[in-house]
Amino acid sequence: MSNDIPPSDQKYFKIRVNTILPSRATTFDLFVMINGRFIHYLRPGESIKAEKMASLERADVFFVHEDQRPKYKQYVFERMNEDDITTPMKAQILRESSLTLAEEIFEQPDVETALHDSKEIVTNFIDFMETHPEGMASLISLSSHDFYTYNHSLDVGIYSLGLGHVIGYDKNDLLELGRGALFHDIGKRNVAVDIITKSGALTDAEWAQMQKHPQYGLKILAEYECSEAMRACCFEHHESFLGNGYPQQLTGPEIHPMARIIAITDTFDALTTKRSYNSPMGPQAALEFMSSKLAGKYDPSLLKAMNSVLFRMKKVS
Ligand SMILES: [Fe+2]
Ligand SMILES: [Fe+2]
Repeated sequence: MSNDIPPSDQKYFKIRVNTILPSRATTFDLFVMINGRFIHYLRPGESIKAEKMASLERADVFFVHEDQRPKYKQYVFERMNEDDITTPMKAQILRESSLTLAEEIFEQPDVETALHDSKEIVTNFIDFMETHPEGMASLISLSSHDFYTYNHSLDVGIYSLGLGHVIGYDKNDLLELGRGALFHDIGKRNVAVDIITKSGALTDAEWAQMQKHPQYGLKILAEYECSEAMRACCFEHHESFLGNGYPQQLTGPEIHPMARIIAITDTFDALTTKRSYNSPMGPQAALEFMSSKLAGKYDPSLLKAMNSVLFRMKKVS
């Protein structure tokens, strides 16, 4: 029997270890993968000791059987509503439990399921922002500084919800914006992996490939039911306020307002994230750089609002 797990095998799904609280009984089975096999790790009703938990890496994962997905979701939901868990801890559980779904957006062949699941993820974030007004700052300060497309998409989603919230978006608009942000780079699925993961500067030909991701994304989304706003987030997030962006060279007012938000949060996340070829900027330095060197690219009023988002973040860190 082969030890390789085919990527289409959906029987188990990944969860981040730090969505499980130490010394707290789970209601589902946990598995680990060793040499390509799922090994039973923990039974329902058992818990992981704090010392064991401390020895695990942040990016480590457990697996849960697909049949028990509702139980895992319920477990996360209950932690969100538990009084003796601090808001920063809740923010961490929420973010980490959503990361694996953000990863699925890029890895699973089934875009329809990802589109469907994204409603729940973004709604959870919006509800959390509403019930824990101070929680947004914790979420933002948790943003990962290691680059993976799915981390990036989730963080752009979180920053965008922060920015949308600051400018007074209602719940429906926040939902569209958050989902648009989660899917903004979905077109990168069609760009060669070695270009996406290349650690040095791209050649002209590679860059031309990379710049096609908004078109690829639009083409992917066109096959599914989704809003105009979500399509615009995907197709217009590399447009520039002064008209020298891509692919359509739209100017300020022609660019969908949500795509203008994502243009800002996308660059902000890229600048503050560690890449192998450059070190990350601090949040304030990134925003100053965007307001000076890159000023013509962004909607000035939104860039100003991004300052308020940062201000909230500073209060936490
Ligand atoms: Fe992009
Ligand atoms: Fe992006």
